[in-house]
Order: sequence, then C-alpha cells, then structure tokens
Amino acid sequence: MSKTIHYLKDYQAPDYRVASTDLHFNIQNTHTEVTAHLSVEPQRAGAPLVLDGSAQLLSVSINGEAVSGYTLAEEKLVLENVPAEPFTLTVETLIRPSENKSLMGLYESGGNLFTQCEPEGFRKITFYPDRPDVMSVFTATITADAKRYPVLLSNGNKIGSGTLSDGRHWVKWADPFAKPSYLFALVAGDLNLTRDSFTTMSGREVAIEFYTRAEDADKVDFAVQSLKHAMKWDETRFNLEYDLDIYMVVAVGDFNMGAMENKGLNIFNTKYVLADSRTATDADFAAVESVIAHEYFHNWTGNRVTCRDWFQLSLKEGLTVFRDQEFSADRISHATCRIENVAMLRALQFPEDAGPTAHPVRPASYEEMNNFYTMTVYEKGAEVVRMYHTLLGEAGFQKGMKLYFERHDGQAVTCDDFRAAMADANGINLDRFALWYSQAGTPVLDVKGRLNGSGGYELTVKQTVPPTPDMAEKQPMTMPLKVALFDAENGRQIAFRRPGSSEEITETVLLLTEAEQTFTLENVRQNAVPSLLRGFSAPV
Ligand code: PHE
Ligand code: ZN
Repeated sequence: MSKTIHYLKDYQAPDYRVASTDLHFNIQNTHTEVTAHLSVEPQRAGAPLVLDGSAQLLSVSINGEAVSGYTLAEEKLVLENVPAEPFTLTVETLIRPSENKSLMGLYESGGNLFTQCEPEGFRKITFYPDRPDVMSVFTATITADAKRYPVLLSNGNKIGSGTLSDGRHWVKWADPFAKPSYLFALVAGDLNLTRDSFTTMSGREVAIEFYTRAEDADKVDFAVQSLKHAMKWDETRFNLEYDLDIYMVVAVGDFNMGAMENKGLNIFNTKYVLADSRTATDADFAAVESVIAHEYFHNWTGNRVTCRDWFQLSLKEGLTVFRDQEFSADRISHATCRIENVAMLRALQFPEDAGPTAHPVRPASYEEMNNFYTMTVYEKGAEVVRMYHTLLGEAGFQKGMKLYFERHDGQAVTCDDFRAAMADANGINLDRFALWYSQAGTPVLDVKGRLNGSGGYELTVKQTVPPTPDMAEKQPMTMPLKVALFDAENGRQIAFRRPGSSEEITETVLLLTEAEQTFTLENVRQNAVPSLLRGFSAPV
C-alpha cells in the first residue's frame, strides 16, 4: 500500500466530532465481532465523513438505516451526503485477534486478548476518526466465554455485568472522561488479580488492581507499591489527584514498547511490572518504579490534556518523562538520577541528533508515526521541559502547569499551548523558545572567561546549532546556562553579583538568546574557574 507523508503545516480541525462511542465486543473462538455506535456531530456541513479502518467491514448504518453508498479504499471509509445534524453511525466489523501479529489493535498473547491503540491501532478494530483531536466518551460491553475469558476489562468504571445461558458472560465499562481512540483499551483472559487501594488527597478511595498470569502473581508487589508512591507524589509535588474509582495495570508478554497509559487500564510489558525479589537488580527495580510512575503521570499529562496531532507527541512524552525523572530524583537522589539521565541522553540522543535520522522534538513531517517514538521526542523533549523549569524555578513552573490545566483540561492541544501557559503564568515572553521544537541538532557552546580588570568576571558565550539533514541554516536558541565560579587557589565557591543587583549569590542562570553574548559577574577579583552548564542546564 502506498504511504502518504503527513505534514504539520497541513493540520486541519476535524470535520466530524464524536460525542460518544459505544462499543460492543462479541469475542468468539476464532474471531471477534465489534459493533460501534458513534454519536457523530458534524462541524462542517457537506464535508465527507472519512473514517480510518483496516478491519473487515460488515455493515454501516446511519440512524439505524443501512448505508450502502460508501467507498472503501486505502484503509479509509468515505461516506458522502451524511446528515448535517447530529446522527448515530453504527459500524460492524469482524477482526481475528489470533491472526494479528502486529501487536496493534486487538491481538492475542499467551491465550489472552489485549489491545494496543497508540498511535493508530484503533483503526484495526473498527472504522473511526482515529486521530487524537477527536475526543469521545467511551462505553464498552464485552461478551465472551466465561471459562476462557473470566476477566473482561476496559477503561473507566465497571457499570454492569451478567451471565448468559450459553456459558458466556458480559461486562460493561464506562469511562466518563472524553478521550481519543488511542487511549482505548480492552483486556480479556484468564488472569490473576492482586488488589490494593489508595486514598487520594480529597479522601476518595481508589481501587488498585494488577492483573498477571497466575505464575507471576508473586512478582507484582513492588510495582503496586511504586504506583502508590507515584500517586502520592503527583499530589504533593504537582497537586494532581487521580480521577477514577479504579486504576488497573495488566502485564502482557508480547508488547512492542515499555507500557501504555490507556485511561484507567495501563497495559505493561512484563519486564516493567514484574520484579522477582530473588533475581531482580537495583536497576530492574528502578526501571519498574519509573515506568509505573511514567504511565500513571500520563493520566494528567497525556490523557486529561492530550495531543492535537501526532506531531505534538512530545507534549505528552517530554513532559511525562520530565515528571518521571523528577519523581525518581525525589525518591532516590537528584544528583545520581541527573547523572544517569544525562549520560543516557549523551550516549543515545546526541548521536540521533547528529545522524541521518535527526529530527526536531516536534517533527515537521512523518510517513510512519511508529518511527517517531524516539530519544529526541522523549529524552530531548524532557530536557526542553526541564529548561522551562530551570528558567522559571519550581514555583514558576508549577504556576505554568496550573494554568495549562485550567486552560486545556479535556482538550487536545499543541506544544505551543504548553509554552504559552508557561509564559503567560509567569508574565514573560517565550516566543523564541519555540526553536527548541522546530530545530534539530545539538547546539554547541564555546565559552571564554576572564577577569575584566574592573572587578568583574566576564563570560563570552558563542552558540552554534549544527546543520541537520532536514535544515541547513539554524537560528540561535534561547537557553538557560547555569554557572558558578570557584576560586582557582582554594577551590571554594565565589560569591558574585549580577549587574544591577546588590545581592551576593554563588550560582546564577544566564539566559542565552544570541549567537554571541557577553555576561559579567560583578565583584569578582580573584582568579576564578568557571563551572558551566551546571546540572546540565541545557541539552548542548
Ligand atoms: N505511550 C507509551 C509511553 O510512553 C509508549 C507507547 C507508544 C507504547 C506506542 C505503545 C505504543 O508511555
Ligand atoms: Zn509516555
């Protein structure tokens, strides 16, 4: 099949919104039938309704009447002349999870069924506007054989269940929070349940449920405790509380990535949830805790506020990596965690940024979105978020987060919206900071220091951003350069003053904005050795 290149500059708001999505999964031995009822809200009268999908299409109807005049080509179902008023679209599809080897859509692993929908797996299940800016309230009813699939899970809260006469049973789930299709999840199988609970800061009790294969049930305890630490930390550091009555984590042996933040129903690669206390290393435990936290933190940064399109992936991933890094640092040690994070960035992201696949934190185009889950989007994206934090301080950064949620809760937004919230909450201009999202390549700094002979230490900073295959000419970036001075003789940190200030300080953040700039640290007379880029204040 021919591939299309998608461009950020071509973004268009959806022509149809989907207020609610009611799904029915009828799981059989060899296949699953899916019936989707969508309440569709036209946004632009006369536009064709285009749905993404690669499942076997059984039927389409509008307001209960079968539609036959559609076209189906290149994984798109196109319906012309649909009503201009809100209507119900019903789509029936047939899928074969046991034959699905893509690890996307609904697939089988170890005899159980799991979904993976980010970024574009939902279209393997049914026909749908499979794009993150279409946010809908989902319900899912799952019917299956009670012996083979005793556990039937989906997002949100369980609102009904029952047994049928033929040895089958059903469960109905409702997720009250509107979400894009990529956050939909379903699990059906024979899994062991480990329970716990967490009381939130407003006193609500949240049920915690971890599902594993029976033989792994003794390896899940550490992950359960990690989740509770993460829930508590997000309340104390970010003032963010969990929003559903239940939080589920399911371990699966076959999974492409680390884990997936589906609303209320995380699905995890076993490697990041199971830890055998007899054999797991410290690094294994730390990885479990950090991935559990990462997926949990997505509930606010990713799920409640999501991405407008996949170009904005770093909006949720860079921010959530920053949050999980801060969590681990608060739990373990800021110094050792920072050293590890920077070592990884330099070992893996710097080469990516200097190689043939170099791309900006927000790519300008993509052919296959699955190729953009990169070190640049995740790790450099987290460094970009960290620079806001360094520039604004913890209090200023949290003001920005608060405004971000006030403005955008329940929306699908862009990296510019995040930057605007940080800027507006702090009354500063961050326009030029946008270059971090559009220019690839690791900037190079050249810094010279000298005593200026009139009681000051002068730092001259030059920056260049190297050319990358996508862009030859680069503009200088805005970045924080954290510096201190040490006495050349005794090694002690030297106090200095910023020009125009009478405050004695021993560390400061210089704001680079130009290709070349000179900064003076006043009131320095002794031979000084500069300490530059402290805490690795910018990814350069
Ligand atoms: N969104 C997941 C995360 O970073 C990663 C992921 C992407 C998993 C695509 C599966 C598929 O938390
Ligand atoms: Zn993530």
